[in-house]
Amino acid sequence: MNYKIMFEDFREYSVAEFFKKNRHMLGFSGKIKSLTTVVHELVTNSLDACEEAEILPDIKVEIYFIDNEKAKVIVSDNGPGIPKELIGKVYGKLLAGTKFHKYKQQRGQQGIGAAGVTMYSKITTGVPVHVISMHRGKMVIADVSIDINRNEPIVENMVETDTDVHGVIVEVVVGDVKIDKGEYSVYEYIRQTAIANPHASIELIVNGERIYYPRQIDVPPKRPVETLPHILGITPYEFYEMARNSTSRTLRSFILNSFDRVTNNKLDELGNVLKSLDISLEKSPKEVTWEEVEKIIKVVKTIKWYPPRKDVLIPIGEANLQRTIEAVYRPELIVTRTRDPKIYRDGIPFIVEVGIAYGGNVINRIHRYANRVPLLFDSSACAIPKAIQEIDWNRYEIQDINNSPIAIVVHLASVFIPYVSAGKTAIAQEEEIVQEIKLALMDAARAIKDHIKEKYKIQEMNRKKQALLRYVDQLSSDISSLSGEDRELIKNKLEEIIREKYSI
Ligand SMILES: Nc1ncnc2c1ncn2[C@@H]1O[C@H](COP(=O)(O)OP(=O)(O)O)[C@@H](O)[C@H]1O
Ligand SMILES: [Mg+2]
Repeated sequence: MNYKIMFEDFREYSVAEFFKKNRHMLGFSGKIKSLTTVVHELVTNSLDACEEAEILPDIKVEIYFIDNEKAKVIVSDNGPGIPKELIGKVYGKLLAGTKFHKYKQQRGQQGIGAAGVTMYSKITTGVPVHVISMHRGKMVIADVSIDINRNEPIVENMVETDTDVHGVIVEVVVGDVKIDKGEYSVYEYIRQTAIANPHASIELIVNGERIYYPRQIDVPPKRPVETLPHILGITPYEFYEMARNSTSRTLRSFILNSFDRVTNNKLDELGNVLKSLDISLEKSPKEVTWEEVEKIIKVVKTIKWYPPRKDVLIPIGEANLQRTIEAVYRPELIVTRTRDPKIYRDGIPFIVEVGIAYGGNVINRIHRYANRVPLLFDSSACAIPKAIQEIDWNRYEIQDINNSPIAIVVHLASVFIPYVSAGKTAIAQEEEIVQEIKLALMDAARAIKDHIKEKYKIQEMNRKKQALLRYVDQLSSDISSLSGEDRELIKNKLEEIIREKYSI
């Protein structure tokens, strides 16, 4: 056996190298999906930045195919822009961002979106990302690329001038991409984005052809507040890491300062039980052992804490959702429902809202959203289709849910979306979430059922009315010759009786 040779190749590698090899984990697999992913990452950043700065977003996405399977994508927004010194990190370093450490309802989470796009353009065309950032009176133009071996930005050709506008324009050239009009396309992605973001105006231009989704409401969504995690939603590992890194002097103050809605009374209760297990809340959190953490978390689950704050979640809203669905589909009927906040994994608040659009220009489709971001891929692993499948749609006069003129919209808002994977394409099938989606859909489906029943009733009445009206001519002639009364008079009378009886 030759151990020396075996370990000669041992080396470390950067997160950028990892994602270069595993680009599918970021959504860069398949030509159509890759292009949608590029647009998704840039557009969600624009929406997030505008929301954070409380600006009504004007977003423009332009795509020009410059070669077979090679396209230039330009995304511009009117957000706050990016400070000069951060432009390199935003577009040239993976796992860098402002959102990862925040416990708050937002789109981005991990800081791999923007730099992921840079990496994709680098490995498919080698062209750096051209960034124009207008921030606080300064316009900075730069070409940004990524040093994949070190996961560090390469910034070139930077120029700076004054400006009186704000926003970001990002221009990338990507290869290995295609576009069509199917359910995984940029077209579908932008349409779904418009439905979930009534406060945004969104323009899509593909090879010169323009589609425009105007803003439906002139108020930006309320800002979701940032909260501390609830102690019931914490795993032993998370508790251990937080405790070890804490600057608090005692376990007691660590718990009080690190989690949402913990009170001294409840801490006394916890302390009493822990005392019997030989764990003191007065010890330093830095000294807590893994075994102790496991015990603490077990006891934590037995205590009746104040429930997590739920006002941290901002839904789209029933009326707003109604407006965007109307604008996009012009259906015969729309029913929207926003449910009250609920909790999953004992400590993480979430809100489900749904819309069902029926008839009109509706195409049979399921729209899945997590914090207003459309999820187009990996639907089989997702909680939303699971909930839809578990409903007995026959009870709502819908015989074949997959072939009816019905579009279903489901939005999950949460401070922590349980994605199935790093690609953030599907919501894990957490029991409480699936259940809540079902309840929301069933509630909306009841209103759809009433509509469908009413429609059948009207159709049936009309059918009977038409059938009877067919006999009127003959009948009036017969009665007229028998009774000697005027034929026209009898005819009008008979028609009047039938219309009265069979109208609603
Ligand atoms: N269009 C933009 N306007 C302003 N800031 C932006 C924009 N795009 C990205 N950023 C900033 O760059 C950071 C990194 O973005 P990204 O890599 O997509 O990660 P994430 O969105 O998960 O935080 C964001 O957290 C945000 O602070
Ligand atoms: Mg992002």
